[in-house]
Amino acid sequence: MVSPAIALAFLPLVVTLIIRYRHHFVLLYRAVLVRIVQDCVTGLTREERAFQYVLTHATPGDPQGILDVFDHWCSKVEFISNIGPKKGLVLDKLLKENCPLTVLELGTHCGYSTIRIARCLPLGARLFSVEMDERNALVAEKIIRLAGFDDDTVELIVSPSDEVIPKLREDYGVERLDFVFMDHWKRCYLPDLQLLEGSGLLGQGTIILADNVIFPGAPNFLRYIKHSGLYRYRVHRASLEYIRGIQDGMAELVYLGTK
Ligand SMILES: C[S@@+](CC[C@H](N)C(=O)[O-])C[C@H]1O[C@@H](n2cnc3c(N)ncnc32)[C@H](O)[C@@H]1O
Repeated sequence: MVSPAIALAFLPLVVTLIIRYRHHFVLLYRAVLVRIVQDCVTGLTREERAFQYVLTHATPGDPQGILDVFDHWCSKVEFISNIGPKKGLVLDKLLKENCPLTVLELGTHCGYSTIRIARCLPLGARLFSVEMDERNALVAEKIIRLAGFDDDTVELIVSPSDEVIPKLREDYGVERLDFVFMDHWKRCYLPDLQLLEGSGLLGQGTIILADNVIFPGAPNFLRYIKHSGLYRYRVHRASLEYIRGIQDGMAELVYLGTK
């Protein structure tokens, strides 16, 4: 048994840790504990619960309304790691400034960022969104179509990214990617970037935006883009989606072409 004197000696350390990491505890509570309880109570996945909420609170064919309802659910009800409204503005701005015609998204989840991207695209543009989890993809498909985007504008590909990238040219007729949004598992960022380089689909000026490079973080990816000499890049710093107090950032890369 630990003596009270020793326990007391550690108290300041414990209090300091709790204060310092309070936002991480909030995240743990909202993203893990609430989810486990709700999964048991409702028998639905978190993504299905989000869809039900969107369906009952948003207007079909109104992408912005759907995003707003999603943001409300994620900040007040349960946590989902959508890009969110603040970092979403960086994405919107880049898309509106660059008017990409062919866009690849890695990590669709429920389709929040997919809708965000699709509503900023010029007429005739195509967005290929890749999701490997079939249950997430089912929800995403319904939300994307609810927002009013058909298969010609948004094509949802249900498969792991490393299987899709090598087939984009042959199976999906992609000649060049103008914009890539990476928001899947962080460990896939670097191998997928290298797959994209090898595919010949990146051209001079192709923009790659990678979310969460600070939290949870993608250090190998950041080290590579810094030293490869293939990219001009900057990091847009912003707090983590729906949780204030945890610093995150998005890396914006511009492909310079092979040297
Ligand atoms: C952070 S969520 C994406 C959030 C979404 N971009 C948004 O902002 O609304 C990550 C998603 O990527 C998917 N994913 C992770 N690794 C993947 C891979 N290698 N290929 C395809 N999907 C992947 C996961 O199943 C999960 O649904």
